[in-house]
This record gives sequence, C-alpha cells and structure tokens, in this order.
Amino acid sequence: MKTMDLALLGFGNVGKAFARLLAAKTQELQEEYGFLPRITAIATKKHGICIDPDGLDEKALLHLLDGSKPMDLSVLDRMDFEGDTFEFIRQVPAHILVETTPVNPHSGLPALDYLRAGARRGLHLITANKGPVVYGFRELTELTSQHNRLFRFESAVMDGAPIFSLFRGPLAGAKLHGFYGILNSCTNLLLERMRNGETLEEAIAYGASIGITETDPSNDVDGWDAAIKVAALSNVLLGQSLTPMDVKPTGIRGITPEMIASAEAQGKRWKLVCQGGWKEDGYKVGVKPEMVSPGSPLYTVDGTSSFVSFELDVLPGLGILESDPSPKTTAFGLLADLIDIVKSETR
Ligand SMILES: NC(=O)c1ccc[n+]([C@@H]2O[C@H](COP(=O)([O-])OP(=O)(O)OC[C@H]3O[C@@H](n4cnc5c(N)ncnc54)[C@H](OP(=O)(O)O)[C@@H]3O)[C@@H](O)[C@H]2O)c1
Repeated sequence: MKTMDLALLGFGNVGKAFARLLAAKTQELQEEYGFLPRITAIATKKHGICIDPDGLDEKALLHLLDGSKPMDLSVLDRMDFEGDTFEFIRQVPAHILVETTPVNPHSGLPALDYLRAGARRGLHLITANKGPVVYGFRELTELTSQHNRLFRFESAVMDGAPIFSLFRGPLAGAKLHGFYGILNSCTNLLLERMRNGETLEEAIAYGASIGITETDPSNDVDGWDAAIKVAALSNVLLGQSLTPMDVKPTGIRGITPEMIASAEAQGKRWKLVCQGGWKEDGYKVGVKPEMVSPGSPLYTVDGTSSFVSFELDVLPGLGILESDPSPKTTAFGLLADLIDIVKSETR
C-alpha cells in the first residue's frame, strides 16, 4: 500500500478539521484510492512543532485536539526539532506540504515564501490560503512542475466546492468568458440579518457571537475578502494578474436600514455581488452591493451560503451553490487536492 506523508503548516480551524477528516476517511482512502495518508509533521506559530518520520500517533493527536488544555504539539515530537518554519520545511519527512496559515491580502507573505521553499524541496503543495494563489499561482505551478510535482488550492475559494478542479477536468475544452456571484458568506449573512431588522452593528455582533465575523470585521465588511477571491478566480481561470487592490471593492458599510427597506418595497434584496470577465472594452472586475430581483439566482442565496455562476462559450450559465460552509467543508477541499495528487502519481 502506497503511503502519502503529509506535513501540515498551520493547525488552526482548517488544519484541525483536516486531521479529523483524514482520521475518519483513512479506511475509505485505502480501499477506494489505494493509499494510506499519514501526518508526519505539524508546525504552528504558538502551539509548537512536531515531527515523527513514522507518522504522528493518530490517537494522541486526536486526544490533543479534543483536550481542554491549550494544545502543545511538541509532546508528539520524535525528532527534537529546533528551528523556524523554513527549517521545518527543509527537514520534514513528507511528500506533501499542506499550508493553512493566515491570509495576507497585501502580498500573500509569508505563506508564499513557505510554499516556494516547499516547491524547491520537491514537495507537492496544497493550500487553503488565497494569498499564495493570487500572488503566486503561476510561479508555484512552474516551480512544482520543475520537480514533477503539483500545486493545488481547491479550498481557497468556496471551501470544498469544486471550482478550480472543474476547469482541469469536466470543463476542459469549454472557454470561460466570466463569472459572477456571492463569494463572501459573512456579508451575505449580515445583509440577511439587516433585512430582518438589525443594524449593521447588531448583525456584526451576532456574527461575532457565532464565530463568523472577526473582532475587526473590515476584511469582510469592506469587501476585501471578496476582492481577493475575485482576483484568485481571475488569475487562475482567466489569465489575469490582479491583486485585491485592482478590484477596488465597495463593501456593505454604506447599506442603511432605509436602503434595505426600499429594496424590500421593490421586491428586491441587497447582495454583495462579485464579478470578473471579458466585456467589449476589456477585462472588468467588481465587488459591490447591488439590488437583485427574484429572477436572479443570487436572490435566494441566504445565510452563509455562497454562489458562483460561470459564463462559458458552450454553457451560458453554470451555477454552483455551497450551503453551510465550515472548516470541515474547507478540509474536504484539501482532501480532494490530496486525492488528485495521488491520482497524478499513478497516471
Ligand atoms: N476557516 C475556514 O473555513 C476557511 C475557509 C477557506 C479558506 N481558509 C483559509 O485557510 C487558512 C487557515 O484558516 P484557519 O481558519 O484555519 O486559520 P487559523 O485558525 O487562524 O489557523 C492558522 C494556523 O496557522 C498557524 N500559523 C500562523 N503563522 C504561522 C507560521 N509563521 N508558521 C507556522 N504556523 C503558523 C497558526 O499557529 P497557532 O496555532 O500557533 O496560532 C494556526 O495554527 C487561512 O488562509 C484562511 O483564509 C479558511
């Protein structure tokens, strides 16, 4: 049985959900796909680093995850590892580097540098982080291919919903002209709460209480998270080289209760609409609130759901809706990338 050794860089919401999903799916992966996934190393910023070339003790790792004490991964270390994140990447006994550190929308760093180091070492790369996708898609694809390895990032946009893989597989041969949709689930929830009578501040407080909005919600509210996703889709699927700043997003801060009421009176709803694509006067992108009618596919996209519609030469409107996203759905995107990499090695 082929063994695939994984080094996890970042072990927060997504990294932990991925470890749990792998544990739950190990038998299925062996039976259906003929390989045994093994986590051999984990690095975090404040919760320690651990390496075991024979695979970390899965029971002990899950026990650590479920424990009530602050997590200290160094108790699983069998290498007496000392060093920084780059040293970790240089030393890890692994085939694949799975990167889930925080996003930096301004440069993609330091995650981009970590992935560069992994690619130069000849590792396959998987990330859930939009930063390296926007700022390093072509470079990381080239660097990994020099070593006959792959760079995969399915969960960077719309979590576990298949987006990027569609264009490598089922949609190969179709020409993409553009896309539109709702790519930020947080603002979609906030707009729904406002429609139900809350102010933006009350809606943000609710979002914070269920862990959807951060203490500083400006990344979502001002449209930057949506903008980085528009840049990622544009760069990967439509050959652009955009940054989130090029998208010049308008967030939902300017939406007042009066505007919500006026939309309701017209039978419409406010949505933070994302788009990118070729128009008569060149490539255009946008993130801005728009009133949508009941006839629009966006009208009924509620709560934390997200939606994208692709316009292709052979399929004028192909929509993908993702409901109830969570770290588990994101972890599935990482798993799908892992299976894709394993399949590539046997093709
Ligand atoms: N949450 C989601 O559902 C979701 C969905 C799609 C995409 N993503 C993307 O996935 C990534 C991870 O999200 P998350 O929610 O899991 O974040 P998170 O909970 O904040 O976890 C981030 C992890 O990265 C570690 N880290 C930070 N800097 C590091 C460094 N220099 N070296 C090693 N480890 C470092 C942190 O260490 P400590 O544990 O020591 O703090 C933590 O373990 C982000 O890029 C996010 O945008 C998340």
